[in-house]
Amino acid sequence: MKWGMSFSCLALGASLGFLAANPALADDSGAMNTPDSVERSAFGTLPDGRRVDLYRIVNGNGVEMEVTNYGGIITSLKTPDAQGRLDDIVLGFGSLDGYLSDAYRQSNPYFGALIGRYGNRIAGGTFELNGKTYDLAKNDGPNHLHGGDKGFNRVLWNATPFENDSGSGLMLTYTSADGEEGYPGKLDVEVTYTLTDNNELAIDYKATTTRATPVNLTQHSYFNLGGEGSGDILDHQVMINADEFTPINETLIPTGEIKSVKGTPFDFTKATAIGERINDDNQQLVRARGYDHNFVIDRASATDDTLVLAARVSDPESGRVMEVATTEPGIQFYSGNFLDGTLTGKGGNAYGHRSGLALETQHYPDSPNQADFPSTILKPGDTYQSRTVYTFSTE
Ligand code: GLA
Repeated sequence: MKWGMSFSCLALGASLGFLAANPALADDSGAMNTPDSVERSAFGTLPDGRRVDLYRIVNGNGVEMEVTNYGGIITSLKTPDAQGRLDDIVLGFGSLDGYLSDAYRQSNPYFGALIGRYGNRIAGGTFELNGKTYDLAKNDGPNHLHGGDKGFNRVLWNATPFENDSGSGLMLTYTSADGEEGYPGKLDVEVTYTLTDNNELAIDYKATTTRATPVNLTQHSYFNLGGEGSGDILDHQVMINADEFTPINETLIPTGEIKSVKGTPFDFTKATAIGERINDDNQQLVRARGYDHNFVIDRASATDDTLVLAARVSDPESGRVMEVATTEPGIQFYSGNFLDGTLTGKGGNAYGHRSGLALETQHYPDSPNQADFPSTILKPGDTYQSRTVYTFSTE
C-alpha cells in the first residue's frame, strides 16, 4: 500500500521538501507533515511518561529501516540478500521495553544507538581542558565509555521526518545541557539519517557548543549480514582500509602508539574472515577478547577529511555486502565480544558471543588525554561536522 501511496504523494514532494527545510513548521502529531516514505507509530512510554515513537523509512527498492527517537536507535534494517530475500541485519528489540530492561542496562551493548557526547573511552574518566580538570562517570571499569551513565543513547531526541532529493529519513536534534555528564558547554546536536534509493544509509552529524568541549559522535549498530539472530559473524569477510591501528592497554585505552598492522591479526587490508585469526595468541586480541580496536583510516594527509571508504564487510552465505565510508580519521572494529547470550532479540533468538559486529566511525579513543591524536575539542563558534555512509549491496 505504501508503494501506491508514494505516487499519489508526488505532488506533495515540493511542500514536503519545504517542511523538511523548515522543521519548525512540522507539527507534533506527525500526521499532516510526515512524508509518505516515513511512517510513525508508538514504540512505548518512558518511566517519566514521555511517549517514544518509532519511524519506519522505506526506499524504492524495498530496503527499510526503523528508528526510534529514544537514543536515536536504529531498531531494524531490512536489506535483500543475493536472492532478493529481505532480512533484518541489525541486532535490537521490537519494543522500547527491550532497551529499558534491567538485563539490557546491565550488559549495556548500546545496540543501534547514537553515541555521545564522546564515543569510546576516556582514560580514568577525566581530562584537562584550558587548565581545568573535568571528571566524568567511570562507567566502564576505571574508564569513561560512550558518554557516561546517561549518554546520548539514553535520551529522547526531537524527531522530524523528511523527504528530499537524496532520499527520506529522520532529523534528530538534542540539546545537551552545560555540565551534563560532567562535560563543559551546552551542546546543540543534530543527527540526520537519510535512506537513499541507492541503498545507502547516510548519517550526518552536526554540533555547536557554548564552551570548549570534547565531541566524538558515532553510531553503534551491530550488523549480522546473515540476519540478526542467525549465529555468529566469524565467517563474515572484513576489509579495513587501514595500515595502522591504535594498540590498547589492559583497560582498552590506547597506549598512544600508532602501530603498523603488517604481519599482525589486525591486517585487514585484504578481505579476511573475522574468525580466521580472532583466537590467535596475540596480546592485543587477548586484552579485548577479540577485536575491539581503533583503526587509523588511510588518508591522503593528516588533515584530509573527505569521505573515503573505511571498511567493507561481506557475508559469503547470504551474499550481502556492506561498505562504510566516512569523513572521520578512525573506525572502531568491535566483534561483539561482550555479547554472551543473556539478551534475546526481536526475532526470539539469543544474541550469543560475537553474534554481531560494530564498525564505529570516530576520532581515536581517549583523544582528550592524547596530545598526539587528532583533536576532538569543539570550540564555540565552530561547527562539528561528520558524515558516515553505509552502502548495502550483494555479490
Ligand atoms: C564499544 C566498545 C566495546 C564495548 C561496546 C559495547 O564498541 O569499544 O568495548 O564497550 O562498545 O559493549
